[in-house]
Amino acid sequence: MKGKFIVFEGIDGSGKTTQLKLLGEKLAALGCPVLYTREPGGTRVGEKVRELLLNPQYGELVPRAEALLYAAARAQHVEQVILPALKQGKVVLCDRYIDSSLAYQGFGRGLDLSLLEQINRAATAGLIPDRVLLLDFCCDCGVDRISRSGRGADRIEREDQEFHRRVRRGYLTLAARDPQRYRVIDANRSIEEVQRDLIRALEGVLDAFPAGNNRS
Ligand SMILES: Nc1ncnc2c1ncn2[C@@H]1O[C@H](COP(=O)(O)OP(=O)(O)OP(=O)(O)O)[C@@H](O)[C@H]1O
Ligand SMILES: [Mg+2]
Repeated sequence: MKGKFIVFEGIDGSGKTTQLKLLGEKLAALGCPVLYTREPGGTRVGEKVRELLLNPQYGELVPRAEALLYAAARAQHVEQVILPALKQGKVVLCDRYIDSSLAYQGFGRGLDLSLLEQINRAATAGLIPDRVLLLDFCCDCGVDRISRSGRGADRIEREDQEFHRRVRRGYLTLAARDPQRYRVIDANRSIEEVQRDLIRALEGVLDAFPAGNNRS
């Protein structure tokens, strides 16, 4: 496998999509082949599952069904989109991956973490990211940014503050378990400051950002 697999994680409104796009533009300008993709989705089947998962109409969805639907979309996504791009040597920038399931369904909803890990190992055939960028963000601010952006809150975003706090703490716990793979980035700052840290966090992982480069 020649490409690199970079995942963006963080609570709703933490700036994942904004940062992913900015980074993608920078990489493309440097001549690096990039693929942007998002979870749940990125495929025709996945986008359908996404609709089901995020539509506030399906309030009756039970946590285990929710976890399996996310994993089903992920299986399709890995096989149809991520693996082929990595084989072609692309840098895959992915908006959410397994850690979203662990943080939201595990820490947020209280499902057993080892069960979620098992489901996800099966769904992804063991594919793990080269780097996970965790945009750590204060929960109240996330809701604020989403309401300022003018779009309506989806089914998950409608959960209460305590839920989002558990998710945030969960993400930090996951990152602390594997500091080699994860980088925690303080996302409570300007878009430019966050992007600068994010590029530092990729030094030595992407050829475009060599190790030991002291960019300011
Ligand atoms: N550092 C920042 N400072 C201020 N506003 C920001 C910053 N980063 C992103 N925003 C704004 O906050 C909103 C949410 O950002 P974005 O959509 O990138 O977050 P997200 O993590 O992708 O959210 P979601 O999980 O809901 O997809 C957007 O309107 C975006 O323009
Ligand atoms: Mg987003």
